[in-house]
Amino acid sequence: MEKVLRSFFLFLSKSKFLTKMAKKYGLRFGASRFVAGETIEEAVQKIKELNDKGLAVTVDYLGEFVDTEEEANNHTNHCLETIEAIGREKLDAQLSLKLTSLGLDISEETVMNNMERIMAKAKENDVFITIDMEDHTRCEKTLDIFKRLKQKYGNIGTVLQAYLYRTEKDLNDLNEYAPNLRLVKGAYKEPAEVAFPDKKDVDENYKKIIATHLENGHYTAVATHDDQIIDFTKKFVQEKGIKRDQFEFQMLYGIRPEKQLELVKEGYKMRVYVPFGTDWYGYFMRRLAERPANVAFVFKGIFRK
Ligand code: FDA
Repeated sequence: MEKVLRSFFLFLSKSKFLTKMAKKYGLRFGASRFVAGETIEEAVQKIKELNDKGLAVTVDYLGEFVDTEEEANNHTNHCLETIEAIGREKLDAQLSLKLTSLGLDISEETVMNNMERIMAKAKENDVFITIDMEDHTRCEKTLDIFKRLKQKYGNIGTVLQAYLYRTEKDLNDLNEYAPNLRLVKGAYKEPAEVAFPDKKDVDENYKKIIATHLENGHYTAVATHDDQIIDFTKKFVQEKGIKRDQFEFQMLYGIRPEKQLELVKEGYKMRVYVPFGTDWYGYFMRRLAERPANVAFVFKGIFRK
């Protein structure tokens, strides 16, 4: 049943019609549990509350699969505005972004121009940028763009997904760039030709890439809600004498907030991924796909905004 629901929500997440409807009618169906608001003002308020509790943040202006220059330009402007707000309000926050929202599917020129604008603003405001990883068809292009930007700017990182067969090789290829990487299990519906279909294999590969990246001496963000992986990381760093300033844990806004605070109390760096904006629909559907138990919140949320 869980598998069926997962496929169903991932299928829904791709609906352009429902994405448009969601934008039109605003944050609904309990989405505000996972999305920090529709405006930058609302997001800043939520980020301050998290910072006050000792939680660092990476903020994401929601949006993906943009197919016109105008939309990509618009999205870039929102990213610039977000970076400015981080600087102005002195937030303990970074920015995460998706290249498809900046024109990856339009042309290389478009996405590079937009990324250059973002990197210039990020440098000015001393803000770190993470390029999220999308589905496997965009992985190669995303890594190419990351490598090009990393040669020019220090304040940029990206994401590798444990479910892809290619990830171990990508990790080795990236080693010479001394990258700051967020390591995740992977959130998209991928075919067995490119990704481990079995959760057990994903978890094993996840542990393997966490260990490799830490042992290579590079900054590692372990982005998971899974106790098994968190405990593995804690044990591994202790055994290998890896210092706490070489890694951090990351979780999504609204998921396991009590665990987030527990890790802060234990003295670990904990960063919360805080999405905001009107384009919340695809993100929300992927969260439901990960944990169909969250659907209960949707039914409760249907009657309130
Ligand atoms: P998984 O979903 O396998 O859950 C494992 C266990 O965690 C559960 O069995 C349960 O014990 C616990 N758990 C999970 N959710 C819980 C809940 N709500 N309440 C209580 N317990 C819960 N993906 C991607 O493809 N590209 C990207 O760029 C990113 N970026 C990203 C950033 C950050 C900060 C995070 C945390 C995640 C991502 N992801 C991502 C998503 C990632 O790939 C993955 O889909 C989710 O994190 C879910 O996988 P978990 O590792 O949490 O474990």
